[in-house]
Amino acid sequence: MRLFGRSHAECIGCILEGVPKGTPIDSEYIESQMALRKPSDGIGTPRKEKDEVIIEYGAPGGISDGGPILMAIRNGNRNSSAYAGFARTPRPGHADLPALFRFRDYDVAGGAQFSGRMTAPLVAAGAVAKTFLRSKGMEVAACSSAIGSVSDAHDRTFAEVVGSTIFPTRAADAELDAAMREEILSAGRDGDSVGGIVSCMVTGIPIGTGGMWFDALDVSVTRMMMSIPAAKGVEFGKGFSIASMRGSQSNDPYTVRDGGIVAEKNDMGGVVGGMSDGMPLTFRVAFKPTPSIAKEQRTVDLKAMTDATVSVKGRHDPCIVPRAVAVVEAMAAIAVMDQVLSFPPDIKA
Ligand SMILES: Cc1cc2nc3c(=O)[nH]c(=O)nc-3n(C[C@H](O)[C@H](O)[C@H](O)COP(=O)(O)O)c2cc1C
Repeated sequence: MRLFGRSHAECIGCILEGVPKGTPIDSEYIESQMALRKPSDGIGTPRKEKDEVIIEYGAPGGISDGGPILMAIRNGNRNSSAYAGFARTPRPGHADLPALFRFRDYDVAGGAQFSGRMTAPLVAAGAVAKTFLRSKGMEVAACSSAIGSVSDAHDRTFAEVVGSTIFPTRAADAELDAAMREEILSAGRDGDSVGGIVSCMVTGIPIGTGGMWFDALDVSVTRMMMSIPAAKGVEFGKGFSIASMRGSQSNDPYTVRDGGIVAEKNDMGGVVGGMSDGMPLTFRVAFKPTPSIAKEQRTVDLKAMTDATVSVKGRHDPCIVPRAVAVVEAMAAIAVMDQVLSFPPDIKA
């Protein structure tokens, strides 16, 4: 997949390759997925975009022709005035400083190619991947499991995770949604921001699906997750907490149930040796607090080469997590689709 455009360019989009001929490219479904990435009133950026996905090539009559699929989205709501100063006093936590050194003609407007806006075409591509996976019996869902100091204390079922789509914070229940919302609003009132954790599940991946080493299932998923702006960590199954267990605790014993092989629990997160063990693929992604905040922060004045301060006045998400949930789902679907097509098991369970 390739991305093109910038936050304040005419349009953004993606070119998706490798989608099998005959895969339905359903505009209504794509639109429903795009809606899940849109900012919610009060807890998201005031920048509102229509996010209409135009499929330029590759899907005549709504069916993939097997060639590259080009999807474009217009940037309707652009206002670069709030960004001009960041070329001189770069925002800590955003890409401004390193990008100004990396690209001689870098234009900071809207966060350019590093903006969260670039995740809109990812969600469109993810909708195609989800449709493909569903036709093979695989489903992807994610929810917010922590925002700031508010954490979900429960292990959620797949149905509960799917149910998060009705809540603006993407929490798994109404009580958690209210607490997470207040956490975001409280940070916003302080001119500050909060981060959090997105939990994702992919069900139905056949046992033995996955590449090896640099192409392994968990490696591919991690690569996609760490490509999402503001992602700072990924863990599978019990993740970092598995380090303090004994093998007798952490290993997931196998058993035969209804004629099939299953594990009795899923501390490995459904991946062993870089291949699916047939259990749901479960992983969590940590997102940092939004870097652009109104609170004054220390930075440097690149022209005067002195210390300086910066306070961000533009339109920003006080928390990235609720909108990142749809992006995590999309990127997981793309990674798993790629694994399913590239590294299928020799033997079907
Ligand atoms: C959906 C989404 C929305 C985002 N919105 C904002 C935002 O409003 N303001 C901001 O400063 N960063 C936002 N970000 C994060 C920045 O794009 C990101 O922190 C920046 O590009 C630096 O990259 P890094 O955090 O991966 O190092 C958003 C990220 C995502 C995924």
